Parts: sequence; structure tokens; C-alpha cells
Amino acid sequence: MSSLTSNQHVLDWVKEMEDLMTPDKTIWIDGSEGQLRALREEAFKTGELTELNQEKLPGCVLHHTAKNDVARVEDRTFICTSNKADDCAMINWMEPTAMKAKLTPLYKGVMKGRTMYVIPYCMGPVGSPFSKVGIEVTDSIYVVLNMDIMTRIGIKALRQLGDSNDFVRGQHARADIDAENRYIVHFPEDNAIWSINSGYGGNVLLGKKCFALRIACYQGYKEGWMAEHMLILGVEDPSGHVDYVTAAFPSACGKTNLAMLIPPEIYAKKGYKVWTVGDDIAWMHVGADGRLYAINPENGFFGVAPGTNEKSNPNALATTRQGTIFTNVAHNLTDNTVWWEGLDKNPPEDAQEWTGLAVDGKEYVAGGGKLAHPNSRFTAPATGCPCLSKEFNNPDGVPVTAMVFGGRRAKTAPLVYQSFSWNHGVYVGSSMASETTAAAAGAVGVVRRDPMAMRPFFGYNVGDYFAHWLDMGKKLGDKAPKIFHVNWFRTDDEGHFIWPGFGDNMRVLMWILNRCKGEVDAVETAIGYLPHAEDIDITDLNGVTLDTVKNLLNVDKDLWLEDAKGVEELYDQIGDHVPAELRAELNALKDRLSK
Ligand code: GDP
Ligand code: PGA
Ligand code: MN
Repeated sequence: MSSLTSNQHVLDWVKEMEDLMTPDKTIWIDGSEGQLRALREEAFKTGELTELNQEKLPGCVLHHTAKNDVARVEDRTFICTSNKADDCAMINWMEPTAMKAKLTPLYKGVMKGRTMYVIPYCMGPVGSPFSKVGIEVTDSIYVVLNMDIMTRIGIKALRQLGDSNDFVRGQHARADIDAENRYIVHFPEDNAIWSINSGYGGNVLLGKKCFALRIACYQGYKEGWMAEHMLILGVEDPSGHVDYVTAAFPSACGKTNLAMLIPPEIYAKKGYKVWTVGDDIAWMHVGADGRLYAINPENGFFGVAPGTNEKSNPNALATTRQGTIFTNVAHNLTDNTVWWEGLDKNPPEDAQEWTGLAVDGKEYVAGGGKLAHPNSRFTAPATGCPCLSKEFNNPDGVPVTAMVFGGRRAKTAPLVYQSFSWNHGVYVGSSMASETTAAAAGAVGVVRRDPMAMRPFFGYNVGDYFAHWLDMGKKLGDKAPKIFHVNWFRTDDEGHFIWPGFGDNMRVLMWILNRCKGEVDAVETAIGYLPHAEDIDITDLNGVTLDTVKNLLNVDKDLWLEDAKGVEELYDQIGDHVPAELRAELNALKDRLSK
């Protein structure tokens, strides 16, 4: 098929890709339903996709990745810039020329006998001044169909680009899914991403983590805006006024769940509603009125399946009931649908586990061999989300009232606290830590520092990134959002979560918004402003008493002093680009804790 554009920069680059990877043919993705349907049919024939029960799950399909290719691979992920200082803690850095020399041979002729798909895509609402365009070339139909859900693809993206050369060049080849030669490499100075030998979402849907976080955070640094690993939600009060909150939690720590929260009855009956703008990434700019505005660059949700059910997240579940690609969940052969741990209590009688090995449902042992991979995913269009905000496509974005940081901390962090100031809030974000999850390859349950939940997604020197946050605070002045920290994951002595979480997190959101409006007092403590326990509304909350809340708000100074040492180590690892203001915040915290 001929090209869809007369943009010479695009044409030249696609030609370069053809010369490098020598596909048998090239197909430009125009985004039409007819073209996508044909690709789906082709993938059914080759077995790349399985069509699911079209009555129960219209438009839904199932895909399995290779066994060795089920999560992002942080040790194979690189940032390549000319700035040696970018070689700091939490960044795998390599000099760009050396990396290109190493990877080019892997791409040479890699698409021989295959088709190269050219996917133009727009991150952010089409027509928004804050949106940005990328082009991904790939040899995977799975990637094309996922990109169609997660971004705005085809002719509309090319229209957004016009004749400009300002687009991110993404080259992906599945190659042999050879883990030894798997690389996810970013060249922020060239607006380029090279991904090879993987077929897993986070590694190959180059608009998402690769562009919208790693490349975009560098663009934001250069251009004066922010790309953050944050959900965006709106809380509508009974008068119809909506306040927007963004929240950064590490992967698999509750972003999608919070973004799609259903308010408990005590709030619902008064008329409170929660609306989803985004569940993973926020691009934020200072608006004409001096406030911070957020857009969601994505067009769908790439969520963790296990644990998603009618009780925990009915909105996410409903979102996955149409037009969804399921990856590495179990295949329920009884009615050709899908299943995962935590969907309901009983695994299907007749199921195929994600590896494709037949298992007898009756022999299933809870907690033993899992039917769905713990990092199995759904790729679901935003349009299917029952609580999608009507501002979802607003080109100007939504004004941010509060920003929230959080992670999995069994003991240290209280349920919620507020920072003393923007700079202290930046310190709080920089000092974030969380117990690791299955979203990335490696051990699960180990505490690791994860500043702003960006650890796997920094695109430049982490100290410079902190400085950029401080600069944004100066720009925003008294119009800056207030900054908070939450922890839904405190455990008791038996290791059970104390706080019920999920929809009941609304109770904490309400305290946060009341603080922003100046409608509730707080206790000034060494670590920040904490709620009076009475101010967290626990009406109709089974099993939670005032004492439970007090316990959840307890701050163990010894643990915190120990934790501060961890922050100091982190700053030392990052090195001399860590701003003096943050060192000062750390020292002030230690002083307050030692009093
Ligand atoms: P994301 O990757 O950050 O979007 O995280 P998800 O929203 O997909 O949630 C990841 C995991 O955390 C799932 O197993 C959820 O069930 C669990 N989770 C989410 N919110 C809560 C909560 O408030 N409390 C508890 N205990 N678990 C939660
Ligand atoms: P997440 O992102 O892990 O932050 O949910 C998806 C992925 O890139 O794997
Ligand atoms: Mn998510």
C-alpha cells in the first residue's frame, strides 16, 4: 500500500527502516475499521490471536506471549544520551553511538519474509496543543491492534503532525523473542526508541512507557512541562463542581483502581461521583490562569487483570467487556471466555492456563500454579469505561487541585499525610519507596526506592528531574496543587491489610480535598500534616473503628529515621545533581524526628 502522507521527514525515515529491516512489504495503518478487521482475521488464522465468545465479550480477543516475555525488563531498558551525567542511579545509561553500533546488526534484515506495519499515532486528544505524535514501525499485528486501543492512530495522527519533523521514531521488531538480545532503548535527544526481541506490552507499545514517560519527561524538562506516572481522576460534589486529583503509585500499586473508584454509599447517596480521566500517565502544563492542567496522553487502559472483579473494581471489569485484548490470562474453554485469579472464587471447570497447558479445574490449588500470569493484562478502549470523564478529550486538560504519592509500605507510611509545602512535597515524592510487584521482572515484595513512581521511567538525570519539579513549583507559586502521600497497604501482625481500600479510599480523598479547600484542621507532625483520626469518615465501614484509624495514622519515629537513611543513600547514589533544597528538606525531617 502506498504511504498516507506527504511529510518528507516521515517518508525518509520509513524508507530508512525498510532499507534496514527489509520487510517483504510495508502496510501503512490508516486506522480504518476495515483495515483493522482484516488484520484481526489474519491473526486468528495464524493463531496469534484467539477470538473469544462474541456474545459475551463482543470484539474481545486473547493473546499469549512467550513464557520468557511477560513483563517490562528494567535491566534491558536503556537511556542513551550524550550527557554522561545521565548515567546515574536508576538509569541504565549507554553512549548513543556505541548502543546504535551494538543494536543495528540485530535489526538488519530482521523483517525478511514478514510485513512491516507503519503506525502513526497521537498521544493526547487530537487537536490539543499539548498532544504529540509518534510513528512506530513493527512486524506485529498484536502491536498494531493494541496501539489502536491505547492511542489515536492513523490518518488523524498524521493530520496532527502536518509537515513537522517533531515526531518520535519508534522501531520495533519481534525478531526471535530472544531474551539474551532483548533491548528497550531510548535516545531522548533524537526522539527515538529502539525495541527488539520482545512482544510484551510495556516493551513494545512504544507510545506508552517509552514515549509518554521516558521520552516525554525529557521533552517536559526541555520545554517546561511535566510527564508523570500518574492517574487523573475527578471528584464531583453534590453541586456539580469537579476537583481533579493526580496520583503517582508504582506499577501494580493501585492506579487503575483509584482512577475508577466507586464511592461508598455514604457519599453516593449525597451525590458525589468519581470520574476517570486517566489511569497511568499525566502530561501537565501551566495553563493561562497559572494553574497546572493535566491531559491523559492515552486512549485506553492497559490494566493488570488478576484481582479485578465485580467487587474490587466493577468499572474496570465493565470496561473489559467489549473491544478488549486479553494477554496471558486463562482461557475458559467452557464458554470461550477468560478467567484470572480473583475474577471470582472458582476457577472454571475446563480452563487452559496462560502457558497454554491444559489443566483440570478440579485439581486447581489456590495459591499454587496460577491459571493467569500475575502480570496478565487487559488492553481496553477508554470509550467502554462507565465512569469516563466528559473532559477525557478536552484539549486543554483538567486543572489539578491535589497531587498524591503512594506505594506499598507494610509499616512505615501512615494512611495519609500532607506535605508542608511544594518543596517538601517534592521531597516526599523523591523519597517514595514501595514493595516490588510482578509488573516488572525480578523479585516480588522487596522494598525499593521509587521516586515519584518514576524509577523505571526516568529519561534523564534524576537529580535534574527533581530540580525540574522544584522549578515547576516556582512557576506555579500559590496556584500549585497541594501534595499528599497515601498508603493503602499497611499490614497487621498477621500480614493482613488493615485498611479496606478500593472504594473506601474515597474517605481519604475527601480528607485530601477538604484540606485543599481549607475546610479541615490537621495535626502538625514531624513528617507533615496528619488527619485528626475523627476526620476520616468511617461511617458504615465494617470492622474499622476510631482505634483502627489511629493505628493507621501512627508514625513510628525510629522506622522513619531508618527510612531517612535510605533516602540519604539514594541521594548519594544519584549524586551531585540532587538539589540542595531536597538535602535541606531531608535534614529538616531528621531534625524534627530526633526531637
Ligand atoms: P496499577 O498498576 O498501579 O494501575 O494498579 P492496579 O489498580 O491495577 O492494582 C494493582 C493491584 O493492587 C491489584 O491486585 C489490586 O487489587 C490491588 N489494589 C488496588 N487498590 C488497592 C487498595 O486500595 N487496597 C488493596 N489492599 N489492594 C489494592
Ligand atoms: P504498569 O505498566 O506496569 O505500570 O501497569 C504496564 C507495563 O508497561 O507493563
Ligand atoms: Mn494500571
